[in-house]
Amino acid sequence: MQHRSARLRRATHEQQRDFPHPDPDLRRRAGGKCFRRRPAGDAFGAVGSGDCLGDLRHVQSQRNDGTITRFGWKAQNKSLLIFAGEAYNVEQGVTNEAFPNERDDDPGCQFNGSPEDRTNLTPAATGNSPAAAFSSDVVNFAAFMRLSDASTPAPPTASTTNGFRVFQNIGCQACHIVNQTTAKSRFTGQSEVTFQPFSDFALHAMGSLGDGISQGNASGREFRSAPLWGVGQRIFFLHDGRTSNLIAAIELHASFGSEANPVIRSFNALSPANQQDLINFLRSL
Ligand code: HEC
Repeated sequence: MQHRSARLRRATHEQQRDFPHPDPDLRRRAGGKCFRRRPAGDAFGAVGSGDCLGDLRHVQSQRNDGTITRFGWKAQNKSLLIFAGEAYNVEQGVTNEAFPNERDDDPGCQFNGSPEDRTNLTPAATGNSPAAAFSSDVVNFAAFMRLSDASTPAPPTASTTNGFRVFQNIGCQACHIVNQTTAKSRFTGQSEVTFQPFSDFALHAMGSLGDGISQGNASGREFRSAPLWGVGQRIFFLHDGRTSNLIAAIELHASFGSEANPVIRSFNALSPANQQDLINFLRSL
């Protein structure tokens, strides 16, 4: 630890307190094993980056082909197309080609044929993109999400730079992994790009934050690490938006049975100045 904080001091020219090890309990319970890299497949390759949070995290998988899934609060969806299909049906009530069944399956409540949203085999008009005119809403939603740019972090300041170091030193990055690299993509400029989503896209037991909802192999106590890119521009935090206070969002990570407990203990042991820098760093994302 002395070694680590000496490095930190040199880098920032500021006095830093000695941080306890990010997650000693987790490392012990994980038997010292580091997380394996996973073969590149869908959106991006690695789940971990050699950190030792290790065996507690687990990935959600697709039952049909056994590959990792990463979209949604419980990492329950395989692709943006499936995500759009699920949301259009479950949140908006519009049946579609990916999710063709009405949520209410009472035959007395089926008033029209399904799917309501579908491929337009004879589109009325073709605008700028004939493909969009032929495609279902769900396909167009997926294209919109796929081609939306990531948020741009604010320029670093001395405070946010130190906050980023604190974030890494106390173990936030064990779940909110900073860098991920895309696999090969058919979309221009999206192949083998290293980007900063601040998530491992894996599931973690989060104690009383759990919502009791189980999806796929995610239990009611588990959530996918929320990607933190753009978090400085969000108003409500956590899966149910229960707080608009970043400090509360961090403290709520800690409760009986949460994998984040040791990290939140380290957060609470920080000096107020380092806590403030960490918050400033999150606000800058
Ligand atoms: C054991 C894994 C784990 C660790 C360690 C962890 N987090 Fe999280 N974090 C999560 C999960 C899972 C969620 C989503 C929880 C939810 O939505 O209820 C989350 C959500 C958040 C959110 C809310 C994001 C949003 O958009 O709603 C913030 C902010 C956050 N974490 C910051 C931190 C910080 C700062 C640290 C270090 C002090 C940290 N986290 C450590 C797993 C972790």
